[in-house]
Amino acid sequence: MDPQDNVIFSEIARSPDPMESERTDLRPQTFDEYPGQERVVENLKIYTQAARLRGKMLDHVLLHGPPGLGKTTLAGIIAQTMNCQLKMTSGPVIERPADLMGVLANLESNTVLFIDEIHRLPSHVEEVLYSAMEDQRLDVMIGQGPTARSVSFDLKPFTLIGATTRAGSLSAPLRDRFGIVEHLDYYSPQSLAKIIERSSKILNISMDTGGAMTIAGRCRGTPRIANMLLRRVLDFALVNGKNGIDEEGAQSALVRLGVDTRGLARMDREFLRIMRDRHDGGPVGLEAIAAALHEERTTLEDVYEPYLVSVGFIHRTPRGRQLSPSGTAHLAETERMFGPQF
Ligand SMILES: Nc1ncnc2c1ncn2[C@@H]1O[C@H](COP(=O)(O)OP(=O)(O)OP(=O)(O)O)[C@@H](O)[C@H]1O
Ligand SMILES: [Mg+2]
Repeated sequence: MDPQDNVIFSEIARSPDPMESERTDLRPQTFDEYPGQERVVENLKIYTQAARLRGKMLDHVLLHGPPGLGKTTLAGIIAQTMNCQLKMTSGPVIERPADLMGVLANLESNTVLFIDEIHRLPSHVEEVLYSAMEDQRLDVMIGQGPTARSVSFDLKPFTLIGATTRAGSLSAPLRDRFGIVEHLDYYSPQSLAKIIERSSKILNISMDTGGAMTIAGRCRGTPRIANMLLRRVLDFALVNGKNGIDEEGAQSALVRLGVDTRGLARMDREFLRIMRDRHDGGPVGLEAIAAALHEERTTLEDVYEPYLVSVGFIHRTPRGRQLSPSGTAHLAETERMFGPQF
């Protein structure tokens, strides 16, 4: 294998960093350990079972949806279910067509290749995927000008799993080559409570239903945030000499963490405040909000805005973002309960 591949690949199976292995411990390994996204999970169970019955590789899969909802986790589960090894890489680290050709040519049989942030593959790199995905073949141009010729060679059977937070940024030719396209949406509080209860067991914490539901209602529909809040709430319990987490313990810890009753953190509320206080509720361009928050526009678009839109606190209009009456009311209520600086 090319030494360059060490940069391009990372294998989740071997992880020398103890923090990393602690984090990955909470990652479900099978479909049955993965609460929520029922429709997606049902579909993937059928597709993987059918592929196994045929004795063929699974068709290429595109998973899209906001960050932290379990795309990478699902890729691992799919590879495990298909008895395939998993190779992981991501769009931004593959800069040249030759990098991607190297990755594809070195894949062993029955590999799942996971490309995270696939929308960030440069377009001239992305083109390498077209024949690889469609015909399991690489087309390489040799030479230049009138003597240039195209040589093609076969690849071993593989499944590509692409993950993206922005399906809209994917080119149509790439998108059309995925036989399976699944969208992940924010989790219900019930599914999140199951995830929190499962994580608590793994972390050896006693957690009652009230505690789990409190965290579940305030983690923005996102398992990654649920697990992060769980660990912080646990810190408060430990230091306060409690040996478990109940509703009251969870609630007071979350307030200390700056998380409000709808799960918004300071940054989310700043987003809404800038709209209210500097732009009279909007409409205002995202650029202006990004500048005021000292954040990248893309971070606002990928990380903060989708949840605020999904709960109806912000509307997207042709003239910019608009703070909704419920967004205004939530902000006022939170400031009344916890003070204007909260
Ligand atoms: N359905 C689930 N059940 C239990 N835990 C989950 C579930 N989905 C995600 N998680 C946990 O949430 C965390 C984030 O999941 P993951 O890394 O798969 O998200 P992602 O969609 O790939 O995010 P990103 O877009 O940022 O790459 C992981 O630690 C995982 O353990
Ligand atoms: Mg991921």
